[in-house]
Amino acid sequence: MHVTVADGSLLFGDRSVFQDVQARFDSGMVSAIVGPSGSGKSSLLACIAGEMALTTGTIEVARDGNNEPPNPTDVVWVPQGSNALGSRSAMDNVMIGPLAEGRSPEAAAQLAQDALHRVGLASVAYQRARTLSGGELQRLAFARALSTNRPIILADEPSASLDAQNTHALAGLLAELRPAGIIIVATHDPILIDSASRVLDLRRA
Ligand SMILES: Nc1ncnc2c1ncn2[C@@H]1O[C@H](COP(=O)(O)OP(=O)(O)OP(=O)(O)O)[C@@H](O)[C@H]1O
Ligand SMILES: [Mg+2]
Repeated sequence: MHVTVADGSLLFGDRSVFQDVQARFDSGMVSAIVGPSGSGKSSLLACIAGEMALTTGTIEVARDGNNEPPNPTDVVWVPQGSNALGSRSAMDNVMIGPLAEGRSPEAAAQLAQDALHRVGLASVAYQRARTLSGGELQRLAFARALSTNRPIILADEPSASLDAQNTHALAGLLAELRPAGIIIVATHDPILIDSASRVLDLRRA
């Protein structure tokens, strides 16, 4: 599976945000979208998510030989910082996604356990989220994303609230999560940029 952006341009009124972006985002890779503030990183993620339209150009999701327009149900967003419910366990926090998608409690628990294991949080699964460290909370946010099994994972400046040590840990986690699908990170962070498989620089687009 992959997402391609062809001749992508975005304007608001008569102001051009980006022009003629060509990009391909593949399954099994972590891609970084970089560029100065206002260059359109968050907007391009929203277009890939099918939540916003390009002004001109196309975005296509290629899957099983078919090309389709972006569909928000393919996408899960990793929030910046933590939006965890502090008084509930890590497990409860992860189960919310699959339960909201109509999974049974047993299936949701299994998906949550698997996702917590993948991000290295199995040992704190039953600890209240409020007692987790900043780095663990960031992992929890990724576990929540993984538990929905959606093929496109978008993270907008995921290291914004992390120190350098936790940002290195996040880069390691992203590398481990590569097989989870198409992972696209909008970031200014040199540590995350260095660790990405591919970098799309909107300044040069
Ligand atoms: N709905 C909108 N209407 C008008 N202008 C918008 C809209 N959404 C975004 N913009 C403008 O488009 C530009 C790109 O915004 P965007 O948030 O995508 O930038 P960014 O690269 O993510 O910046 P940052 O690094 O600060 O997060 C900005 O100048 C922003 O004000
Ligand atoms: Mg942004």
